[in-house]
Amino acid sequence: MCGITGYIGDGITLDEDDDAGAAAGNGGVASVGDIVHEGLRNLEYRGYDSAGVALVGETSGLTVAKRSGEVDNLTVPDVPDATLGVGHTRWSTHGPPTDANAHPHTDCAGDVAVVHNGIVENHEALKRELADHEFTSDTDTEVIPHLIEEELAAQRGEGDLLNAVRAVEVRLEGSYAICAVREGEDEIVVARRGSPLVLGRDDDATFVASDVTAFLEHTRDVTYLEDGDVAALSADGVEIYADGDLVDRGVETVTWEADAAEKGGYEHYMRKEIHEQPEALRQTIAGRLDVDGGDVDLDVSFPPGFLADLEEIQIVACGTSNYAGRYAAQLFEELSGVRATVEIASEYEFGAGRSPDRTLVVAVTQSGETADTLGAVRRANAAGARTFAVTNTLGSTVTREVDDTAFIRAGPEIGVAATKTFASQVATLTMLAVAIGRERGALGAADARPVLEGLRDLPGAVQQVLDAEPKVREAATEYGDSEAFFFVGRQLGVPVALEGALKLKEISYDHAEGFAAGELKHGPLALVTPDTPVLAVLTDGARADETMNNVTEAQTRGAPAIGCVSAGEEYGTLDVSLPVPDVGLVEPLVANVYLQLFAYHVANDKDRSIDKPRNLAKSVTVE
Ligand code: G6P
Repeated sequence: MCGITGYIGDGITLDEDDDAGAAAGNGGVASVGDIVHEGLRNLEYRGYDSAGVALVGETSGLTVAKRSGEVDNLTVPDVPDATLGVGHTRWSTHGPPTDANAHPHTDCAGDVAVVHNGIVENHEALKRELADHEFTSDTDTEVIPHLIEEELAAQRGEGDLLNAVRAVEVRLEGSYAICAVREGEDEIVVARRGSPLVLGRDDDATFVASDVTAFLEHTRDVTYLEDGDVAALSADGVEIYADGDLVDRGVETVTWEADAAEKGGYEHYMRKEIHEQPEALRQTIAGRLDVDGGDVDLDVSFPPGFLADLEEIQIVACGTSNYAGRYAAQLFEELSGVRATVEIASEYEFGAGRSPDRTLVVAVTQSGETADTLGAVRRANAAGARTFAVTNTLGSTVTREVDDTAFIRAGPEIGVAATKTFASQVATLTMLAVAIGRERGALGAADARPVLEGLRDLPGAVQQVLDAEPKVREAATEYGDSEAFFFVGRQLGVPVALEGALKLKEISYDHAEGFAAGELKHGPLALVTPDTPVLAVLTDGARADETMNNVTEAQTRGAPAIGCVSAGEEYGTLDVSLPVPDVGLVEPLVANVYLQLFAYHVANDKDRSIDKPRNLAKSVTVE
């Protein structure tokens, strides 16, 4: 997830308290560069690996400045005649966070500059077609300005940026939002497919950004672009094209207060991040699934023979990442045919009797900095095992200590309670399980295909659950004041039940526990009363009928029951039934989104400190 923004106009006359004015240091007029820079500061929650701007002026031409590090590391050049500019703040996916990989990227001639959020999945094939172009970065993005350059050349001086972007846009596969500028042209051309892009309209200026937060202090009149739209922005207005036709996308007025705007209109980062899951998951799987071929490409290669001889996969992790690991362990066994165990990282020892040469230790950690997990990795390394990290954070300590890494690409997560990163971890681990299974010959293409179809359909399925939020909110209001909450599931439903309980206790401070449903009758049932709702994962992959029997045992003792149920199935006795779209092995992961929303609304009704729960930290760097 990256943030992009742009502005075209004559600069803004400022109030004293205007942020861009303060940045400009003159309290008078904010230049184009100041406005774009301020927009990037507002978007930094989307990434902070590097920042850059491209400014265009009539006589100064195209000026690009970019560097690795946070937005305030960037010195925006003073270009007094600039009338338009675009900017980017990066969350690295392809290529490390270096100056060269920072956006904007330019064509060979340095006439065209592009900022991009998303992933161009076919960038390698496109790059091969552009063999005579000079590339200066490791990014997927850089193909775009070079394709625009080709297109402009093909149009032989007749062409303009808008037509070039329209021609290039249809050749890109994957998800993207782009802003392009060109020396000598007084417009910004933008396009979106799968990644967000919103326009801001003022009397004599136009803004564009991944999120209204970037420009909300200047205008509240916005136009949301739709997938497939390409638009030309000038200071006087916008022209939006869809399938070649000029379209009107209307103008809406944003009514959020400034504080809410920082969270994209949500009251808390946690709810925002819950709602970002479809976008995060799209990034997680982008360019990695070959559904027809029944294979995945995680861009990691093991030494020859290593996977064939593999005896055991040990997953080490803490907190939510540990539950992602518990989900994955079941998939590793099912899809790769290798015995898989999960250990709490702080408890992990390599263990006598295991063979380090035939063991893969997978550390799952959002931050890549959790001391307990790093300790486990160090013990595994010391024992001579091969180590592998699944993390969200490029350049984090864990990536430097393991043999291989797969990034989950969920974008920054600010809420202490992990939400979107859990989903992206499970999706990444599922792909790893398929990759290992395929390479070992334990999983045929035909058996892999439905798993990959489930992953492909996952973002849409999660969106359907998010659309059903009012129903969960109602349940949270009805049952939120209960004495305690029990979460149950079987098989893949168990880690989801554990994660559901963890989410609720973390942010609502209520007593909540997750169990394997069959264990309810072996003890916890003594705690069940009419004041202890049971939340159950009743999806495919979670032996729903048997779990429902245990739910009924609790209901017999008076407990209300809320079930996440595979769409099309029905358990008439449930007090609340929440339908989960069918996506195969990752279906319980979709059910988890209901549990996240339930926890959120229970905690919100109690006015808890949701983004920063008491006593907890996002990243725990002590053992
Ligand atoms: C802390 C956080 C949890 C997180 C755990 C592991 O306890 O509060 O939300 O799950 O650390 O973090 P990691 O970055 O290793 O995934």
